[in-house]
Amino acid sequence: MDIQILLAESSRLFSQKAILQKDIPLLRDIVREHNRLYYQQESPVISDEEYDRLFSQLVEAERRYGDFDPESPTSRIAVAPDEQFQKRPHATPMLSLDNTYSIEEIRNFEARIRNILKTDEPIAYCIEVKFDGLGISLSYERGQLVRALTRGNGMEGEIITQNIMTDQNIPHTISYKESVEIRGEIILPHDEFTRINEARKQAGEKLFANPRNAASGSVRQLDPKVTKSRKLRFFAYSFPHLEEPETRALFGSKTGISVSTYSQYIAALERLWFETSGIFFERAKNLEALVERLGAITAERPRLGFDIDGLVIKVDDLNLWKHLGLTAHHPRYAIAFKFPAKLARTRIQHIIHSVGRSGIVTPVAILDPVLVGGVTVSRATLHNYSELAAKDAHEGDTIFLMRAGEVIPEVVSVITEARDGNEKRVGVPEKCPACETPLEQETGKIAYFCPNRTGCPAQLQGGLETFAGKHGMNIDGLGKKQIERFRREGFISDMASIYHLYVHRETLVNMQWLGEKSVENLLTSIENSRHVPLHRLLTALGIPNIGRRTAQSLAIFLAQSINRNDTEKPTGERLLKIFSSLSAEDLESIPDMGPVASQSVFAYFTARESTLSRLFPELHIILPDISFEGIIEYSLSEKTFCITGSFDGMTREQIIEIAKSAGMRFVDSVSKKLDMLVVGEKPGSKLQKAKSLGIPTMGIEEFLAQIRDHEH
Ligand code: IVH
Repeated sequence: MDIQILLAESSRLFSQKAILQKDIPLLRDIVREHNRLYYQQESPVISDEEYDRLFSQLVEAERRYGDFDPESPTSRIAVAPDEQFQKRPHATPMLSLDNTYSIEEIRNFEARIRNILKTDEPIAYCIEVKFDGLGISLSYERGQLVRALTRGNGMEGEIITQNIMTDQNIPHTISYKESVEIRGEIILPHDEFTRINEARKQAGEKLFANPRNAASGSVRQLDPKVTKSRKLRFFAYSFPHLEEPETRALFGSKTGISVSTYSQYIAALERLWFETSGIFFERAKNLEALVERLGAITAERPRLGFDIDGLVIKVDDLNLWKHLGLTAHHPRYAIAFKFPAKLARTRIQHIIHSVGRSGIVTPVAILDPVLVGGVTVSRATLHNYSELAAKDAHEGDTIFLMRAGEVIPEVVSVITEARDGNEKRVGVPEKCPACETPLEQETGKIAYFCPNRTGCPAQLQGGLETFAGKHGMNIDGLGKKQIERFRREGFISDMASIYHLYVHRETLVNMQWLGEKSVENLLTSIENSRHVPLHRLLTALGIPNIGRRTAQSLAIFLAQSINRNDTEKPTGERLLKIFSSLSAEDLESIPDMGPVASQSVFAYFTARESTLSRLFPELHIILPDISFEGIIEYSLSEKTFCITGSFDGMTREQIIEIAKSAGMRFVDSVSKKLDMLVVGEKPGSKLQKAKSLGIPTMGIEEFLAQIRDHEH
């Protein structure tokens, strides 16, 4: 099916309240086509959530109209196995799992079970993670691994034995000598995914949209050497031999391991040296206990280091499995509790070139607004032009979008199949979009920048926003909009002119844009900001590569220079003189200042001498007390932090690593001494405890922003 039509029809059908009977055959074709793209091409064109919605629309419509068909994708996974591999039928079909996104539906799941079993007794469950990888089947004969198959269409799979042999955690021999089959999932850990995509980017190859596609692409390789070079992991969750009472008894008699529950079944797999969901596996004695644990287990998600797309709930008692049986699509003893999608699909309307305060020009995608993880996103940075070229994103492209670490929306990949020829490639602009100065590229760097340091309105706007912002001079009422308007009306032309705004009091009030009270408040706020600690002023200047911590070191260094050598008062002018007399070597001797930071300070002061010579006299600069070791007011150094809950798209380790690089210390429990608690989705008891101890809590967004401000 043509991808354009597929996408258009998919959108039409999943937004439709109820599917008409006449649309059922079309919907079946559509689901089949998405299956083919997902399983065979490793190149889906819709998000998982969209697929699940289409699929349940179809289930619902078939039920409503009693329109059943053994060929429907709801009855079988109708994907033709790929031609390039040899096929082989599975011993028993490899089924799918029933899906849900809500706790209410888990209750319905139990109600259905009770209905079949006709019982009111508590039912015990196991909870394990739902690996987001590629289902495969391994066959062992006399203890030897003889064959590996992909799931294929569920009935027959592709033979991938050679490729799988290179996988480090798949046992080639097992101690149990009966003919058995083990099923499970092949996944690609996050670090390995990043490494592979990095290499593909270097080689100019198409990037994998996610670790699952990468795992699939790695296993279904014609060259096993390629598979070997990628560190895949296999997790076992299915051992059909233990599901039939007779073979289960045989297993018990041969191994001395008796198995009557799924918990024991998993333990048996581990005894045969298979990796399973291990420490993320839990047993719950009844539905209530199960529901209570879902949040806490989900919170552990970041610790895994690989993708999961939900949890799988299975009835613990294996004897009940037989009773409950299977549908053509899934077993009735299990259900998947899926996480809301973090990948969304949308379209790039335009690519704009945004000029920041340091003059660097960044391509930014303006998107059809789309909901990702509960937030509407309408723009996404493409970081730089080499990234833009690597992603091959065009205006008009349909893309997958992700919110990394719940913060920065990112274009993951382009759905090139969805192109209709009207897309427009966007390259590096020749001139600054704000001031038309020809752009330059620093030698050896990727970034392009506008060299018009003092005259570019975009750099001025960005610089003024930073200057007046919360971590800068903290001038209330002087945000982006006000700065824009004051610049347009000619009230503000640089940092110093902010301090002359009072001259225009009458005009500002008469403009009737801001109320009289707001004008008063703004002017007071500006006046108050004249008294400023030196390190804060240095941060406010927005010198590239100078974060809050470096600004402190620089402030201390300057204060020392003044006290040591000068009898003169530390006026702005005096400071400026000291700055101008500093050499790059002097700057490099300052703690925390590397060559990049010192070069940056040097360049900043050289280029802006006249602007600063107007600004400094307006201020009352407060020097740090150097009898005191450092100013810790804004320092994150040595601050302790703890984490609770999970963070979409970001592992706990990643967060800890970022914070450690800012000098912070991670502690794993909440006590009176803790400085802050970072709260993610589904937080645990730590949150309650922190609140009761009055410890500051913050979301990941705020936490990362704090580190970013501190670092840069
Ligand atoms: S049990 C009869 N357990 O998810 C199906 N499946 O979306 C038995 N999956 O086809 C499957 N993690 O490939 C099971 N812990 C887990 C799983 C799991 C991932 C996969 C499996 C299945 C698919 C359904």
